[in-house]
Amino acid sequence: MGLAAFFFILLSLWVQDAAATIGFTRGDFAQDFVFGAGTSAYQYEGAVAEDGRSPSFWDTFTHAGKMPDKSTGDIAADGYHKYKEDLKLVSETGLEAYRFSISWSRLIPNGRGAVNPKGLEYYNNIIDELVKHGIQIHITLHHVDLPQILEDEYGGWLSPRIIEDFTAYADICFREFGDRVTYWTTVNELNGCAIASYGSGQFPPGRCSDPFGITQCAGGNSSTEPYIAVHTTLLAHASVVKLYREKYKAEQKGAVGINIYSFWSYPFKNSSVDLEATQRAKDFMFGWILEPLVSGDYPEVMKKIVGSRLPSFTKVQSGLIKDSFDFFGINHYYSLYVSDRPIETGVRDFYGDMSISYRASRTGPPAGQGAPTNVPSDPKGLQLVLEYLKEAYGNPPLYVHENGVGSPNDSLNDNDRVEYLSSYMRSTLDAIRNGVNVRGYFVWAFKDLFELLAGYQSKYGLYRVDFDDVRRPRQARLSARWYSGFLNKNGSSLLLLTTQEGLMPK
Ligand code: FCB
Repeated sequence: MGLAAFFFILLSLWVQDAAATIGFTRGDFAQDFVFGAGTSAYQYEGAVAEDGRSPSFWDTFTHAGKMPDKSTGDIAADGYHKYKEDLKLVSETGLEAYRFSISWSRLIPNGRGAVNPKGLEYYNNIIDELVKHGIQIHITLHHVDLPQILEDEYGGWLSPRIIEDFTAYADICFREFGDRVTYWTTVNELNGCAIASYGSGQFPPGRCSDPFGITQCAGGNSSTEPYIAVHTTLLAHASVVKLYREKYKAEQKGAVGINIYSFWSYPFKNSSVDLEATQRAKDFMFGWILEPLVSGDYPEVMKKIVGSRLPSFTKVQSGLIKDSFDFFGINHYYSLYVSDRPIETGVRDFYGDMSISYRASRTGPPAGQGAPTNVPSDPKGLQLVLEYLKEAYGNPPLYVHENGVGSPNDSLNDNDRVEYLSSYMRSTLDAIRNGVNVRGYFVWAFKDLFELLAGYQSKYGLYRVDFDDVRRPRQARLSARWYSGFLNKNGSSLLLLTTQEGLMPK
């Protein structure tokens, strides 16, 4: 027996063993529940100046050297050229669903108006390929990559002018792709991105004001702009949902939702102020976005603390926003401990308004402003988030749109990731058994990508991508094999594949 074959058998045994010990199987989830994985356009595609694509504000941001590792998404995982190979892997892994985003500036390089035929062809090819393999398609319209031209023209998400342009862009997507795509998410992580883009300046357009910026601020006002951006985006989202319902839903029968960043908040101490602070954290992080969608207005506690800096909805707007969703998507990675912080009287940003301190653990030091890094995994936290959303917002359909673990470690033997994913999947199952309406679970990420906070320093992929090699070769990690074994779709598990070159650890 060759060494590779021997290694393969060992690996197969290990993966089967891991599947047996997690204590649940695919069959414990409903048949129409979907397991998938995801990518996003700027993080995956590369080819930023090819075939008519115009820059998005990520290109501007990375080219200004704003990433900690000074990286760019110019090539990223080269998905523009390698999508066919990748979708074959998606299918061979046995994924039931695939989540990706459309690059607005690839499809409509001027932000509005003419459609780029090459962009249209690229997304049609991806969609056709997924349909061919019987994989459910989940598309995000905006995953932090606004056409730079609209940022330059009127300040992007800070201007109500975005509402018309975003709606027209969505109209084109529904018209062109809606015959084959039924799950649409308007915006990825509206809460987290608004804070990072307009509060701390860590995401494009990198706006913030002293002393709240984590990078050098490209103009801005951290006390007001995150609230303005969310307000405008909610109106744009509602406008897109209205369009879909009036013009497409009857025929295409799809669903449109929105996505938020989520973490579970535990009170640091069992004191009434920490308990209140924990509820405040939930209202600021979840309620900021979800409360208007469910009840037509922002949470009372935000209105009280943020005051006139929080824009208000007219009656008509409130009516448009209320119920403008078919599902909520959550991205979830960890839990935090929350303690009360006295509210400051001077100029405050989002975190100052929330007036809490975060800790990564019960014993850790306060993290100062913002969320701490290097937080230990807490699978139970996902269950608690899901159960909270059920109770607080009337049991809406939920998708875990992103869950995964990043590591500087490039290894193919990612036992830690397998452990992480299986424990969070278990936690999702526990939430479902407690009556939460969860419809799907997606691993972030299908493969290593350009990461929003860390460039190429953090690997999230089920598949490894070698970013030092211009050809960007892919290799299956153990987690890909494990996930494949868990799904074991039609016997097409990766475990049954021969030791084809490039798939085996070297
Ligand atoms: C989320 C983003 C996603 C990815 C993960 C690690 O905030 O939505 O694109 O970068 O973090």
